[in-house]
Amino acid sequence: MSEAILKRYKVWDVPTRIFHWVNFTAVILLILVGALMLFKKDLGITSLDAKIAIKEIHVLIGYVFVINLMIRLLWGFIGNRFARWSSLLPGKDFAATLASYIASIKNGEPQQFLGHNPMGRLAVIALFLLLITQASTGLIRAGTDIYYPPFGSTFAAQVAAEGVDPVTIKPYDKTGTDAAKYKELKAFKHIYGEIHLYAAYALLALIFLHIFAVVRAELTEGGGLVSAMFSGKKVLSKEPEDLER
Ligand code: HEM
Repeated sequence: MSEAILKRYKVWDVPTRIFHWVNFTAVILLILVGALMLFKKDLGITSLDAKIAIKEIHVLIGYVFVINLMIRLLWGFIGNRFARWSSLLPGKDFAATLASYIASIKNGEPQQFLGHNPMGRLAVIALFLLLITQASTGLIRAGTDIYYPPFGSTFAAQVAAEGVDPVTIKPYDKTGTDAAKYKELKAFKHIYGEIHLYAAYALLALIFLHIFAVVRAELTEGGGLVSAMFSGKKVLSKEPEDLER
């Protein structure tokens, strides 16, 4: 009987692992606080102060999420081989690599990879796109709803009536605002709220798919994918397809 020889490879660098777990925690908290906002009436939260306070908490967690995401987007140009955009974004051989990986799963001999497998790469790209959507629409709504940075002062100046200092404009209070401009801002922010909400649903669905796919790959292909996000190391029984020679 032949025995598989396990080899340990260093894959995820420290910044990538820190990003992953900060992002994981922030996204879960943002979904929970987001759900609280969405179902506030059903939960009996009716006071304006409570509504604003929940939004402020969501936005403060949002800042941690955005800063972490921006660092990771930059790290894609600086980090080790597996953290780089060049190993994530589909290149010229991607279609063939994907087809070969799918065929290997079908014939019961799944290929192993040091970095993400080709399907994982697609999932991670979709996740990044949704995270960027959430970050940008969230920052806009933080500005339009509670006049928080980085766009809050611009929106406050936009709705302030003539001669009114924008600093005195308060969230959900029309005092000192120009009625027509206020209405205009309301219409503008509505679109971003809709995108923010539907992207949150899509993100939730993709998170479940991502977890399911990681667990499936871990059980059928091995590699210690989950522990690798803590230790940075993958343990493989075959020669990985993306080994640098
Ligand atoms: C993965 C990241 C995020 C998720 C999953 C998320 C989720 C949600 C959800 C479910 C809502 C409730 C939507 C509604 O009541 O219609 C919401 C609202 C909101 N979020 Fe986020 N959010 C994220 C990131 C951010 C960020 C980064 C910011 C800003 C820094 C932000 C700011 C806001 C604001 C101001 C609202 C209230 C306005 C609105 O209804 O659109 N969010 N978010």
